[in-house]
Amino acid sequence: MKQPKVENKIVLVSGGTSGVGKAAAISLAKVGAEIIILGHDQKRADAAVAEIQRRSGNPLIWAELCDLTLRSAIQDLHQRLVDQNIRLDALINAAGGVTLPQVPTTEGVNTSYALNYGATYWLTTELHDRLRKGARVLNVLGLALVAKNQPVLIPKDPSCTGLTSSQVIDAAFSNKMLLTQALAGRYKRDNITINCFNPGLIRTGMGADASAMAKTLRGLYNVPAKTESKLVAKLALDPRYTQTGILYNVWGHPVEMPARHYTVQKRRDLLAFSAAL
Ligand SMILES: NC(=O)c1ccc[n+]([C@@H]2O[C@H](COP(=O)([O-])OP(=O)(O)OC[C@H]3O[C@@H](n4cnc5c(N)ncnc54)[C@H](OP(=O)(O)O)[C@@H]3O)[C@@H](O)[C@H]2O)c1
Repeated sequence: MKQPKVENKIVLVSGGTSGVGKAAAISLAKVGAEIIILGHDQKRADAAVAEIQRRSGNPLIWAELCDLTLRSAIQDLHQRLVDQNIRLDALINAAGGVTLPQVPTTEGVNTSYALNYGATYWLTTELHDRLRKGARVLNVLGLALVAKNQPVLIPKDPSCTGLTSSQVIDAAFSNKMLLTQALAGRYKRDNITINCFNPGLIRTGMGADASAMAKTLRGLYNVPAKTESKLVAKLALDPRYTQTGILYNVWGHPVEMPARHYTVQKRRDLLAFSAAL
């Protein structure tokens, strides 16, 4: 499927300074969209903006700084978008990481859970009034394809006390899938579609600051990684992708989520838990 040029579309990409987010931003910029990337380090954000502009030939790229582990920082971001009267055509939730500390943030949420799950919930719900009618939200998965056949684990307490780091990551990813379905139902009336997808192997910064084991995995993971993500551009902007609440595989085909784990009750429990995060 060829992606048509899409000037005048504005897309916000979390994690746009590296890996999946940057690959998504490059592909979206190449088809003419205006891109706002989110990062939490000014130098890395500036370098990513320059690289995306250079590789796409599109000057309409800028960065906003936001610590995505904090809901209050996302609320501040929302205010800045309101002040500048910015409305979005797509939101790509691509920030994430597996080597984060398992300690609570200043808001009491486990840091790893906050970045890998909380940020997706907060960005989607807090920025909801910034999304235009017909907008797309895309949540990045990957590890969930391993976790998806396991029962969905909703932590009892946001600091994730009592959970191991791998349980926190499993919960974050399986919850992201469940959340995709839950919010897809909630925002359908606003004509906003919310889907999740497996981006495939993308050249990544994941594990850069990690143990030798994580670095080895990163090395394996990196080959033969891509530096663009055409799938994102299609799912985010191609008018033919109108379904909502879908998990897409790397080829852009829908994958069935296991109904016995992804129940209506679990969706309600997760939304109630997330609202209190
Ligand atoms: N790479 C792949 O092939 C692949 C495949 C499937 C799924 N995934 C999933 O995609 C997600 C991202 O992975 P990646 O490979 O793109 O990793 P990455 O290259 O390390 O990128 C992580 C991104 O998250 C941002 N970030 C980290 N902490 C943040 C914070 N507190 N506030 C704001 N932004 C923050 C980073 O921003 P800074 O640059 O400012 O630190 C960076 O842009 C992960 O959940 C991963 O499991 C990746």
